[in-house]
Amino acid sequence: MTQAEKNPLREGMPEERTASPAALVIFGASGDLTRRKLLPAVYNLTLSRLLTGGFAVVGVARRPKPDFAKEMREAVGKYSRRPLEEATWSELEKGISYVQGAFDEAETYTRLAAELERLDAERGTRKNRVFYLAVAPDQFAPIVRGLRAANLVAPPSHEKDAPFQHVVVEKPFGEDLESARALNRDLLAHLAESQIYRIDHYLGKETVQNLLVLRFGNTIFEPLWSRQHVDHVQITVAEEIGVEGRGKFYEKVGITRDIVQNHALQLLTLVAMEPPSSWDADAVRDEKVKVLRTLRPIAGPDALSSTVRGQYAPGMVRGEKVPGYTEEPDVAKDSTTETYVAMKLHLDSWRWGGVPFYLRAGKRLAKRVAEVVLHFKPLPHGLFKGAPGATEEPNALVMRLQPDEGISLRFAAKIPGGGIAIRGVTMDFRYGAAFGSSTPEAYERLLLDALRGDATLFTRADEVEAQWGFVDPIFEGWRTQSAPIARYAAGSWGPPEADALVEPSSSDDAHVRAVCGAGDGGKAPERAWRRP
Ligand code: BG6
Repeated sequence: MTQAEKNPLREGMPEERTASPAALVIFGASGDLTRRKLLPAVYNLTLSRLLTGGFAVVGVARRPKPDFAKEMREAVGKYSRRPLEEATWSELEKGISYVQGAFDEAETYTRLAAELERLDAERGTRKNRVFYLAVAPDQFAPIVRGLRAANLVAPPSHEKDAPFQHVVVEKPFGEDLESARALNRDLLAHLAESQIYRIDHYLGKETVQNLLVLRFGNTIFEPLWSRQHVDHVQITVAEEIGVEGRGKFYEKVGITRDIVQNHALQLLTLVAMEPPSSWDADAVRDEKVKVLRTLRPIAGPDALSSTVRGQYAPGMVRGEKVPGYTEEPDVAKDSTTETYVAMKLHLDSWRWGGVPFYLRAGKRLAKRVAEVVLHFKPLPHGLFKGAPGATEEPNALVMRLQPDEGISLRFAAKIPGGGIAIRGVTMDFRYGAAFGSSTPEAYERLLLDALRGDATLFTRADEVEAQWGFVDPIFEGWRTQSAPIARYAAGSWGPPEADALVEPSSSDDAHVRAVCGAGDGGKAPERAWRRP
């Protein structure tokens, strides 16, 4: 066990299961993702002894890379969450190799097949392969076609210990419903759904998985988790960074495609889903898909009344002046691409009928934070109304996904002293304090799961299509209704126009107040965006 893992807070925690022997083949190995995320994840899995001896990494890309292993060593030194230990690295390095070639040329796959055979013989990878497509979506089809033609993938066998081939695909999975469907068709022409692992790295975050444990591993929260007690839910994915040199990509994508269609909607499914019958990939994903199907469509004029889109103007972030979006490289001066979006969503379901889900995501906001907050209903009767300092702050359960991961519960407490003075206080659970701070990165968990054949934390074809099916009409609504784009200063909490979105107004809210009880005197609950 390494020094980093001798953590008394982890004592008594079960040993995780290790991956099966396999070769990890990374297409697009010369790209950023390989250096920043994939190899550091592989290294940390090796350090945690979660990869067996029979493991190898093969990079594939068009560029020649005679020093691939050396470059990967530098990348791990720079981006790994734990320092590079020579002994562990040299053990891993022996299994790293590189195959140069274009993805649409048959010879590339012939060379790859030969390399994989060598690794089976020399490293004991047992014909098990995980093909990781860290490439643009238009490369997915040529690659799976090439793999199939070279017999590097075969229909899955249900025989015990039969070799497996899994294909991991990175986001973005298409740019709209039509292209996502076409991609699914292309992949499913050569692979079974059970061989496809569509990544949404948010699902690999420990705290995101903990949402499920909080809900379904405890008895005290679930009875509160519905329209009877919840006034509304807020989901925030806020970033301080701008587009970071990815102007060209962002111009095509915008934050709704980049964050909402995948990460934010995935968070919504985890908060809103019904308990699955088991912790099985399909049982969990069946329930998530049901949530997406209950989302009330936002189309036509609703795109104006239920969403606000914004774009950052120049401002200050962490005391430094930063340019506006249209001043970023590769961004049009008159761009109307959104870097912020806020939405009011409704789930037409028994559990959530009438409870608004507010969702916001933005670049260049005041703080990097991802959180899900359940705001509970106001008191039915203000017993302490008029008490000095009394606040009418309703209870809130805050699930902080990053940074400073944890869960806190806001409730009212009596201020010590004579009389009844009340103040909102917080009961806090912090991951770092409870389990130590070296939480595995999302990519570690997801790579390990792909190697072990566990697809629970990957999005299924119908899920990804349902996500596009929800956001596509919003784009169409923005286009047909000529939706304005609100500017916000970089470093702020987004455009002021978004504030009105959370104020209770619609008939849905009136409905839920009538059915489930309202605040003191039947008045509408107050709502505002939380300032994390
Ligand atoms: C990616 C987006 O999927 O998620 C990026 O493409 C974004 O634009 C990133 O910055 C945020 O991920 P995290 O893990 O830092 O919250």
